[in-house]
Amino acid sequence: MRSAQWYGGSDRNAYVHRAWMRRGLPRHAFDGRPHIAIANTASDLTPCNRHLDEVAASVKEGVWEAGGVPLNLPVVSLGETQVRPTAMLWRNLAAMATEELLRANPVDGVVLLGGCDKTIPALLMAAASVDLPALVVPGGPMLTGHFRGAPLGCGTDVWRLGEEVRAGRLPRDTFLESESAMIRSRGHCNTMGTASTMACLAEALGTTIPGLAGTPAPDSRLLEQAHQSGRLAVELVAADRRPSTFLNAGSFRNAIVALAAIGGSTNGVVHLLALAGRLGVELSLEDFDRIGSGVPLLVDLQPAGRHLMEDFHRAGGLLAVLREVADLLDPEAGTVTGRPLVEHLDGAELVDPEVIRPRARPLQEAAGIAVLRGNLCPDGAVIKPAAASPALLSHRGRAVVFDSVEDLHARLDDPALEVDETSVMVLRGCGPKGYPGMPEVGNMPLPARLLERGVRDMVRISDGRMSGTAYGTVVLHVAPEAAAGGPLALVRTGDPIVLDVPARALHLDVPPAELARRTPPEAATSAYAAPPSGWQRLYIDHVLQADRGADLDFLVGRRGSEVTRESH
Ligand code: FES
Repeated sequence: MRSAQWYGGSDRNAYVHRAWMRRGLPRHAFDGRPHIAIANTASDLTPCNRHLDEVAASVKEGVWEAGGVPLNLPVVSLGETQVRPTAMLWRNLAAMATEELLRANPVDGVVLLGGCDKTIPALLMAAASVDLPALVVPGGPMLTGHFRGAPLGCGTDVWRLGEEVRAGRLPRDTFLESESAMIRSRGHCNTMGTASTMACLAEALGTTIPGLAGTPAPDSRLLEQAHQSGRLAVELVAADRRPSTFLNAGSFRNAIVALAAIGGSTNGVVHLLALAGRLGVELSLEDFDRIGSGVPLLVDLQPAGRHLMEDFHRAGGLLAVLREVADLLDPEAGTVTGRPLVEHLDGAELVDPEVIRPRARPLQEAAGIAVLRGNLCPDGAVIKPAAASPALLSHRGRAVVFDSVEDLHARLDDPALEVDETSVMVLRGCGPKGYPGMPEVGNMPLPARLLERGVRDMVRISDGRMSGTAYGTVVLHVAPEAAAGGPLALVRTGDPIVLDVPARALHLDVPPAELARRTPPEAATSAYAAPPSGWQRLYIDHVLQADRGADLDFLVGRRGSEVTRESH
């Protein structure tokens, strides 16, 4: 047992380690039983995870019951709606700090409690690098809120209602009235946004108890499953079932199939790439297209569809979805239970075929993430066809370029801006280095005068990300980003751009000789000036591009849990 390196024996060091932990722990806590950390992202400033202390209490009961010792370990928490300049800037910091805390402390295994967008990815990245027995308990989505008789999808309906206000179709007072109805209960966003997506991907990867993802946060079954997860954590230690023992290329295949079938967030691409990098699993952007693009969309959830996570859970949840596409899954990819994921699909039941469609009646035939290449994105870009307007998937239009988010907001509604519905909006300076932190701004708002004319979608291209709750014909994650010398920096307003999703192409139709003559405009390069010190400096110097998961170069890989030195 790893914890025995701290607590075993009768020397002074063991005395010190035990004595300071004897506050509330009995003597037999140190008799060789596994010590299980509960990496807990509960925080008042992460409202989606605020209830996780109660979930942790259930995990604790399960750990004790199975003969382990549970230990609450508060870790870096990121509230997507609260953290500036963008939560993604801190994902790698959260992962690094959690990894180091787990390595530094006398623990044998860990239960990972996350929910809000970046928390599950950061926890999984940490667990992969420290490679201790680990499993995830997703905190679960909130219940469906209603406003004036209609359900509200958090995130998605904020974008929609906000556009309605800008188009003059919804009074601002009514918009503000909906604010108190949007967030009905504890839990994370109830659309198939990033938090729901990452909970489902954690399950598809095999890192949760099968059937757990999507259980609403207020549902008493979440606490029951948390209890079971505590028990299972003790078993994981006994079996030495670490992430490296069962997370492999097959696990990522299953996650990519799931991502497509649920119509999950494009952020899932970045997080899976980063996690694969931590594990040493070969995974490229092309794998998402190769494995996922032909997978049917089966889940009718916002932002691509109509329903919300409470409906998803009631309809059968992820296992019901995966059973429909079982033939596409890796039959051997394992889970924390020690059994392959596919073995857990036998009892899955599709209860509501309107929310989760049967394979024979999909919402879309081929709905996975499409990976684009071309002279605008030599290292790739992604688009989620399921959330796009079919008519815009093959489009040629003139660029309207914005050098930063601030530039976008300053000029979007300028009457002098030459833009119409055929234009291609280009936003740069939003990549990992350029912002920094790759914010969710790729779903640029449309100019108000076009909204007023009824335009609801346009082709938009950026080196940033998009909220998983957003929608539109939005090309994201352009790599290399403008701030890293990518050709996106050379685009000028008026340049023709060709988007051809069926051909997986994104092309700036400007002669190479002309492009070679251009240099990035001063306005763009000055926006990328890096701060001289602190985390942002470290981040900018070391962050990888989106096609590598935007991890830091020195955090890629597995470092294990061994600590050889002792200071007492
Ligand atoms: Fe936390 Fe959406 S803001 S999950």
